[in-house]
Amino acid sequence: MNAPTSVPFARRHLLRIEGLSAAEINGLLDLADSYVELNRQVEKKQSVLRGRTQINLFFESSTRTRTSFELAGKRLGADVINMSVEGSSIKKGETMIDTAMTLNAMHPDVLVVRHHDSGAVELLSQKVDSAVINAGDGSHEHPTQALLDALTIRRRRGKLAGLTVAICGDVLHSRVARSNIHLLTTMGIEVRVIAPPTLLPRFIDRLGVGVFYDMKKGLQGCDAIMMLRLQTERMHGAFVPSIREYFRFYGLDKEKLASAKPDALIMHPGPMNRGVEIDTVLADDIDRSVIREQVEMGVAVRMACLQALLVPAPNRAAKVERLRTVLFGP
Ligand code: CP
Repeated sequence: MNAPTSVPFARRHLLRIEGLSAAEINGLLDLADSYVELNRQVEKKQSVLRGRTQINLFFESSTRTRTSFELAGKRLGADVINMSVEGSSIKKGETMIDTAMTLNAMHPDVLVVRHHDSGAVELLSQKVDSAVINAGDGSHEHPTQALLDALTIRRRRGKLAGLTVAICGDVLHSRVARSNIHLLTTMGIEVRVIAPPTLLPRFIDRLGVGVFYDMKKGLQGCDAIMMLRLQTERMHGAFVPSIREYFRFYGLDKEKLASAKPDALIMHPGPMNRGVEIDTVLADDIDRSVIREQVEMGVAVRMACLQALLVPAPNRAAKVERLRTVLFGP
């Protein structure tokens, strides 16, 4: 299998979807698409990132993102280190920035960072020499999640522009929702958010989305439905009267799903809380749910992001070389 050896992505870091162009997003999705088949083969190893060092630094728990970044780096031939915060000197009081500077002194090529505070990953990126990928910062952004969601939809529907996608549930605390809103609207998708008013950010309509408080109305004519977990770890106080009532009005069940298109995709970034935001039968419905496929696309998307940041496109490399010659001579 011959995946493209480079992709035009002239950025040092991947910190957010906001501000990426449709061409940049398409470039990453095309490259990721080329890795899906490789990941289904017995022999998966490539050497695109041979000699490069990737450190995964997760200050917050993760199953999908951390594992798929590790697999992605290893499949491309990088040396991958997983730094567990639990077993690190952060537990002795070392700060996030001191930790990052310490790792930076070991000359990694890329840091993949998840942090519970919005903006923390960007701050860290300003202190290190390596590329930085945001693996989720607080309720701000989770760029690779939005990319894998888009790849899942694009492969299933053959396009993105012109579709209608509903994002339902705890939009207020969700970095997945924010990244998806930026990506999907950039790609020409009609985005609707459906939630109780207590779980929507103020001024959400300024992000170019339709706002619905009623699931059946909001789901009418939708091509895909993204369900979100209630992020209780980010909640201070009560945002819903009770779990039972929340499921009754905002949990995806067969009755509410009937309002969407008959072949609407059921999506969830995970981890799921079955019986809270999604009926367990729908979550496992192999004809409608693409939740497992989203996880599969996650590895391919993360391979694409690592490659895009670490392997310069030929024209970019040539520009850097020309600049180097002008500055320092041949
Ligand atoms: N979707 C997602 O970010 O899952 P993890 O928290 O398991 O990485």
